[in-house]
Amino acid sequence: MSPPTSSNVGALSFADWMRSVQAQVEASLARCLPPGEAIPARLHQAMRYATLNGGKRVRPLLVFAAGELSNAPNARLEVAASAVELIHSYSLVHDDLPCMDDDVLRRGRPTCHVEYDEATALLVGDSLQSLAFDLLAREDFADCTRQLEMVRLLGHASGSCGMAGGQSIDLEAVGQCLNQPELELMHALKTGALIRAAVQLGGLCGEALSAAERDSLDRFAKRVGLLFQVVDDILDCTANSVTLGKTAGKDAAAEKPTYVSLLGLERARELAADLRGQALAALTIFAARGQRLVELTDFMTQRKF
Ligand code: IPE
Ligand code: IPE
Ligand code: MG
Ligand code: MG
Ligand code: MG
Repeated sequence: MSPPTSSNVGALSFADWMRSVQAQVEASLARCLPPGEAIPARLHQAMRYATLNGGKRVRPLLVFAAGELSNAPNARLEVAASAVELIHSYSLVHDDLPCMDDDVLRRGRPTCHVEYDEATALLVGDSLQSLAFDLLAREDFADCTRQLEMVRLLGHASGSCGMAGGQSIDLEAVGQCLNQPELELMHALKTGALIRAAVQLGGLCGEALSAAERDSLDRFAKRVGLLFQVVDDILDCTANSVTLGKTAGKDAAAEKPTYVSLLGLERARELAADLRGQALAALTIFAARGQRLVELTDFMTQRKF
């Protein structure tokens, strides 16, 4: 199926649109990652192993769906979507390391450090991160002002005030009881920051939005980012490892504070429903243009893995 454009996207069902974006991003990632034969071959093979391995590509989907709001060109969305997915894939490789969550299963296969080794997994993360910014800085991608803004935005979302900072809080919190604001901050950083960045990047790829639209989109992005990690916490204790493609029950076993440990399963589910409602409410300003974001919010809420 050919990539969706702003003119034909409304005609596709959500499932077809999702498959089409996923296929486009898959192909883009396969092209931008160095070939497995290029020296150092083992590192390049491990980078491809850790990235081209069947992730849901939620962040790229958010980039494309947010791009619908601003008539963004498909080719530009593809670059932004690939960059954010490279950062996400790097974060998973490091998240699974023995010094972090010590996981052996990811996306249905042995984790990167199990399949290769720890030093290689560390370098895979480093290299995927560098590649993301390399992509965003590519000459023919967009005008320089826009590119710089995207580089800054993704850098901030990935670093110590974003994803990496959230991971640091997560590790310090093992065995502790966080209160709800503390847990919200941890989730907003470790997972929410990149999800928010994906939405912002999609918005930045096209025509300028009004200040009111930008505010609404950011409110949506923050709610949906938190929603995504609340659902991840719920799935960790309700789904099995085969369905999840990662080890189920790890949070409780590792004494991680989560929304389920704080609120219990039922109230965590209610919170997810509330966050979905808040996210959708923020989209009303966009009317029909927000259709894909609405559908994607439901996908993120109802997902089974
Ligand atoms: C898993 O993210 C880690 C979190 C930030 C919750 P995803 O659920 O998006 O993982 P993949 O990319 O589909 O494997
Ligand atoms: C991961 O959170 C967040 C990042 C990778 C930044 P989790 O540790 O809950 O993710 P899973 O459950 O291993 O995918
Ligand atoms: Mg973790
Ligand atoms: Mg983990
Ligand atoms: Mg988890």
